Amino acid sequence: MSVQRPTERPLATQRPARLDIDLATPEPIPAEGIAAATELLRTGRLFRYAEAGGRPSEAAAWEQEFAAYLGRRYAVAVNSCGAALYLALHSLGVRPGDAVLMNSWTLAPVPGAVAHAGARPVLVETTPALTVDLADLERQAAAHPGAVLLLSHMRGHIADLPAVAAVCDRHGLRLVEDCAHSLGGGWAGRPTGTFGAVGCFSTQTYKHLNSGEGGVLVTDDDEIAARAVLASGSYALYGQHTSRPPLEVLDALAPAEPNHSMRLTNLAAAVLRPQLRSLSDRVAGWNSRYARLADGLAGLPGVELPDRPAAEDFVGSSLQFFLDLPAPAIEAFCAEADSLGVHVKWFGAPRPAAFTSAHQHWRYAGRQSLPATDAVLSRLCDIRVPLALPLDCCDDVVSILRHALHSARTVPTKGN
Ligand SMILES: Cc1ncc(COP(=O)(O)O)c(C=O)c1O
Repeated sequence: MSVQRPTERPLATQRPARLDIDLATPEPIPAEGIAAATELLRTGRLFRYAEAGGRPSEAAAWEQEFAAYLGRRYAVAVNSCGAALYLALHSLGVRPGDAVLMNSWTLAPVPGAVAHAGARPVLVETTPALTVDLADLERQAAAHPGAVLLLSHMRGHIADLPAVAAVCDRHGLRLVEDCAHSLGGGWAGRPTGTFGAVGCFSTQTYKHLNSGEGGVLVTDDDEIAARAVLASGSYALYGQHTSRPPLEVLDALAPAEPNHSMRLTNLAAAVLRPQLRSLSDRVAGWNSRYARLADGLAGLPGVELPDRPAAEDFVGSSLQFFLDLPAPAIEAFCAEADSLGVHVKWFGAPRPAAFTSAHQHWRYAGRQSLPATDAVLSRLCDIRVPLALPLDCCDDVVSILRHALHSARTVPTKGN
């Protein structure tokens, strides 16, 4: 792990003022989205399909715009990224009992999607750069040739995707990218979601686009797109999709595909469309805040930031750091920061808390031995970087974390 540690600054001892900004504050929906949603509410046409004489729906337009944004042929909108991940596995032919390789550092909806398909998660180790361990991936791929690799770009940390693709090619793995945290990011100028057979995105409130709940799957493959449209719950109304393969492909597959009722509403699509247009500005806003926070944290003794390779076009909507402290002191650090308004998540916590959990907590996925991942997660902390945080308030967050670190150092631990 490369340690970015410029001049170390002494830890503060005076208790700083509480941060009066909630780091979980979402941005307001753009006025254009509110106007489109209001218009829809007036018509009552919130369901994406019309029974007869269908006219272009917000959901269909959203799919077309999203596919065009990523430069992929098809997009299928659904009601969550977890649903999109499940549909990706299903459409790739994953069936009960199959192995699905996945990176071990991710969140519960990912092994959940594998369980939804009745498949078996096979977890691959995580490096201190917070990406999939390519050597372990090679080993697991050799043991499961032809499997699907479900790769989360977790918290926007993007692995060397050409190297991942080379492992996939060597062993016939089919790649599904979980881009819930990486919309707007990429590797060497190529967006995430365009490297695999399928890319899946989330538009749940805390992601880079916000429709409350929502997900979207992209692919260039006719059969995958057709199966995803049908299984998402299109009834015999799939002709109303405008981002879809030719009707003959859908007609031929329709009798074989169950309807899983995972549709996105027009209302969600209406609020998403204008957000996509301003995404690049928001990415710049996240990245400037990330840079300011990272700069402040890198100077604190006992704090390390993970490597961010030059080719990684990451979106800094959250920030991860390692603490060189024993578990009770990390707990004390989180409690003190929380009392000052900065909510820190710790991936080494013994129990799931709020959205955060780790592989040991997914009993349904089966116990797996992941010593390297456990060593990484035991020291890993994480904060949100919202646009609601003014740039100069990033320094207040750093002061609070510096103070919490100082308090945590005084916590007695076993043996001292
Ligand atoms: C890494 C990751 N993948 C997938 C998902 C699923 O997203 P959704 O909430 O839209 O189902 C989440 C949700 O938080 C996530 O964190």
